[in-house]
Amino acid sequence: MRKNSLNSAVRIRSLAKINLDLRVLDKRPDGYHNLRTIFQTVSLADYIEISHTPARRLTVNLTSDIPGNLIEKAAHLLDIPGHFDIRLTKRIPMGGGLGGGSSNAAAILLAIPPLTGRRIPLDKLTGLAAQLGSDVPFFLLGGTALGVERGTELYPLPDLKPFPAIIIAPGIHVSTSDAYNALDRLTGAHRRMANDERPGNDFEAVVFPQHPQLKLMKGKLLKQGAVLALMSGSGSTVFGVFENRLKRDSGLVSLRKDLGNVKIFPVSFVGRGAYRSLWWRQLRASRDWKAWPPQNRYAQ
Ligand code: C5P
Repeated sequence: MRKNSLNSAVRIRSLAKINLDLRVLDKRPDGYHNLRTIFQTVSLADYIEISHTPARRLTVNLTSDIPGNLIEKAAHLLDIPGHFDIRLTKRIPMGGGLGGGSSNAAAILLAIPPLTGRRIPLDKLTGLAAQLGSDVPFFLLGGTALGVERGTELYPLPDLKPFPAIIIAPGIHVSTSDAYNALDRLTGAHRRMANDERPGNDFEAVVFPQHPQLKLMKGKLLKQGAVLALMSGSGSTVFGVFENRLKRDSGLVSLRKDLGNVKIFPVSFVGRGAYRSLWWRQLRASRDWKAWPPQNRYAQ
């Protein structure tokens, strides 16, 4: 059997994340900010189809309805020769704080090595991921994780239940670097107290005054019975977490009626165990080895 004949094409679900808590700490000499955040993967996903043809040089042909995607950059950073035909079908709203672009980049880092019969250790992939963006390394881990420093130093946390949630994507684009700059200008009294133990998102203090409808949406999620409702990342997406599906689904019906043509997605939390199983399954990788990152059984 030819070495790569099993896995020359794959179809991948590239999941979104939300931030269950997000604190922006001090500005660093390199211009980034130190953070303390809890990342959580959720079931909302983009679809990426990759097919590989052996070749001496690396070429990427990306078919996508959106430009400037990190996918091509990730493939070039990996620098594994071959021709890669990649088709991206976007469902995760862009610039919404859901890490869609970061997830796509991480998906390429996870998928291409087994697809081409290569084996690249996790710490090398993590280094490449951090070069692509602050949220990319998290998607090499999945589940629930604490992120500190730039958000790239990660500590896995135990899986939570697959809580049902609602994501509201109002389609407002918030620039991440503008949100950080606005937060830098915010004086003490308006910042969340360092000793506030409740989950929160520091960016709400600068994004909500600019886009009051987001605060209203958060209020509506709480009114529908969400046990936690927050903006994700630097916005503009807001999400609500529910105790059970019944409450989530009745909230969904009311919010869809109330908010008209705003995009609203029912999702659930995806733990690390489920995240890895999804990857092993979709790469038809050596699931029996339970290797992470996923490996092709013929890998060198
Ligand atoms: O790393 P990434 O490309 O996602 O960051 C986008 C922008 O967000 C950076 O240029 C920077 O302005 C800001 N940022 C930051 N501190 C972080 C992450 C991002 O200031 N920890």
